[in-house]
Amino acid sequence: MAKMWAGRTAGITNKLADDFNSSIHFDKRMYKQDIEGSMSHALMLGKCGIIGEDEAEKIIEGLKGILADLESGKLEFDLTCEDIHMFVEQVLTERLGDLGKKLHTARSRNDQVALDIRMYLREELDEIQELLIDFVRVITNKAEQYKNAILPGYTHLQRAQPIVFGHQLMAYAMMISRDIERLSDCRKRMNISPIGSCALAGTTYETDREFEAENLNFDGICLNSLDGVSDRDFVLELLSDISIIMVHLSRFAEEIILWSSWEFKFVELSDEYTTGSSIMPQKKNPDMAELVRGKTGRVFGDLMGLLTTLKGLPLAYNKDMQEDKEGIFDAVDTVKMCIEVFAGMVDTMTANTENMLNAAKKGFINATDLADYLVKNGLPFRSAYKISGQIVSKCIAEDKVLESLTLEEYREFSDLFNEDLFKEIDLVTCVEKRISKGGTSVKSVEEQIKYIREKFNI
Ligand code: ARG
Repeated sequence: MAKMWAGRTAGITNKLADDFNSSIHFDKRMYKQDIEGSMSHALMLGKCGIIGEDEAEKIIEGLKGILADLESGKLEFDLTCEDIHMFVEQVLTERLGDLGKKLHTARSRNDQVALDIRMYLREELDEIQELLIDFVRVITNKAEQYKNAILPGYTHLQRAQPIVFGHQLMAYAMMISRDIERLSDCRKRMNISPIGSCALAGTTYETDREFEAENLNFDGICLNSLDGVSDRDFVLELLSDISIIMVHLSRFAEEIILWSSWEFKFVELSDEYTTGSSIMPQKKNPDMAELVRGKTGRVFGDLMGLLTTLKGLPLAYNKDMQEDKEGIFDAVDTVKMCIEVFAGMVDTMTANTENMLNAAKKGFINATDLADYLVKNGLPFRSAYKISGQIVSKCIAEDKVLESLTLEEYREFSDLFNEDLFKEIDLVTCVEKRISKGGTSVKSVEEQIKYIREKFNI
């Protein structure tokens, strides 16, 4: 059958070329947006007198019917159509005859596809945000539950200073809270309507672009028609935002994988979110966390793919741009799945607070506090740091910890040491003393929890 765009050519194409060119197998997921966009377009055409108002009404009714039939399964996608836009127009024309052919007045598939993808992605963006808010809620509740649990905080994956588990968890809540804000920011630029840019140069018809945009809940219109049909920066922006979310998830995933190892044994994942091994009966593998870590790579690939596709493209529309969809669809599907699974995994995770505390006791993580003790008693920090280091070294040589040395032993290094030093290097005191804003004291963690709960109303 000849193509709808048959004109200059007979519109008869090679089968292989057709399959290669076609995008309906992936852009069919934008059917709803395509039909809604077309309804608004018809309404605008009628209002502006470009077609009759009665004609616009009939077209809108026809489109409603197509939407209902697709949703009920009465109508199936015709995969021989080039794309979703051609499919909807074809069915409309089959159903309404010549009237269906009027819909495409004062627009082009170039502005139509730019419109559809913006409408589709803003809905996905909203969904991702909802999922993230729920995830933050889960993390914050866990943080509340473990706001007193002491564990080592690490730098270079070496035990550094004591913190509470609630503090570590709230670090992720803060990251995710910025991810949520970043999406809101992205939405502002995404939610601008390109429709009416037409093929590239605008149109000779007296259209009302603002009317059409408002009707579709956009915040404004693209002010340059070439830009309107050419750019996909909003897709790149969403992909970047999703990539950053995946960075955060994969770091959290990595920690959960470490923490649930036999070497750490800080957390226990619920059976629901782990798998066994087909051969080693003792195994309880953190597959979900590993998969999140792994899927991060493919999302970065989606971003790199589109950056590369768009790089160096001349204005305006080029068919290369059809390649914008599969990557972002994949990224959106992937991140949604990852967030949901992650939230369930964290929600059902328990901490082994005893192991955490034991690990904190063994690593000289109160050595900074020992130095601070000397500073408070008059020694300059660098000298205090040196003495503390020497004491740690003695402990290592004698297989002791800071808490097990006697006052006499301490006094061999400095006569500034007194009995009160033991309280100062007690892990609970170490944590409680970290009163600086944003520090690890329980009070500070409680403030962080309050801030996040108020911010997202959770
Ligand atoms: N399927 C195309 C895409 O996804 C729609 C736009 C096609 N426009 C054109 N003039 N060939 O980008």
